[in-house]
Amino acid sequence: MVEPFVEGIERLEREAASELAAAASVAALEAWRVRFLGKNGILTEQLKRIGTLGTDERPRAGQLVNQVKKRLEDAQALRRAALALAEEEARAAAEAVDVTLPGRGAGVAALHPLSVALRRIEDIFTGLGFLLADGPEVEDEFHNFEALNIPAHHPARAMHDTFYLETGGLLRTHTSTVQIRFMEQHRPPFQIIAPGRVYRSDAPDPTHSPVFHQVEGLVVGEEVHMGHLKATLTAFLEAFFGRRLAVRLRPSYFPFTEPSAEVDIGCLLCQGVGCRVCKGTGYVEVLGCGLVHPAVLTRVDIDPERYSGFAFGMGVERLLMLKEGVADVRLFYENDVRFLSSIR
Ligand code: PHE
Repeated sequence: MVEPFVEGIERLEREAASELAAAASVAALEAWRVRFLGKNGILTEQLKRIGTLGTDERPRAGQLVNQVKKRLEDAQALRRAALALAEEEARAAAEAVDVTLPGRGAGVAALHPLSVALRRIEDIFTGLGFLLADGPEVEDEFHNFEALNIPAHHPARAMHDTFYLETGGLLRTHTSTVQIRFMEQHRPPFQIIAPGRVYRSDAPDPTHSPVFHQVEGLVVGEEVHMGHLKATLTAFLEAFFGRRLAVRLRPSYFPFTEPSAEVDIGCLLCQGVGCRVCKGTGYVEVLGCGLVHPAVLTRVDIDPERYSGFAFGMGVERLLMLKEGVADVRLFYENDVRFLSSIR
């Protein structure tokens, strides 16, 4: 009668061995051990069953169960060691620090290139004795147009692509508004610059942005003339671009200056030879200027018989694009740090 018992034990051993091979973690292995070798485990049950066998069969059956138990215990110890090692290796790999990876670095904050350019422009002009002035970005028609000699149906209004506000105001299209605001409050002589944001309803493209920066300049005194204007702008431009420049005044038109001029500088790229940047002319336009129109002085109760002045307005983005060779104004507003940190 011992044969069925022996077969049962052998089957049990095969089953235990295959489950052991499938145990994939130390925890699964422990569950296996309790199931087969534990105090109430299957093998212990079998040992207890030996008592039901015939007396002469018991020694053989007992020996068999003990041998199987010994083999399973040994196999279990081996498996446990292998699993423990694998788990340790996996944990070590997960925690590993790759000391060859480049560090992330601690970025250092810096001013935006436009802020840096504005500060440089302010420094240069304050060094020439100019004071800083400012005015509101939300303006009225009087300060943005009328007082600047641009009446209601003047064609110059159409050129300004103005953002009008529902409240009746508008976003200033140029910093020339500050000429008026300053002269409403101050009497000559004075020399000021007014840096700030201006707005035009232009679709963004490489040379247009609906918001950009200008620096306005205004000098009023006795016997102020075009020579002062050209000397001042030449000094500024050479300081800003950090080199000697060919500076040229070309006749132009603004309603609030007479005469008016466009200022060109010798092309920074080709030094006047003619290239793609200057479209073969050897010069690039940098700003607008002129002598303050008598009608503008009269508007703010400054006697044009006694006083004269000059004014200029420059685009900060444009100047910085020329200086640094930036081809698209939108880069200043897209906040890509790779671009921003490439400009000094
Ligand atoms: N306000 C003019 C513009 O935005 C520039 C300018 C300023 C021209 C002062 C002459 C005098 O185009």
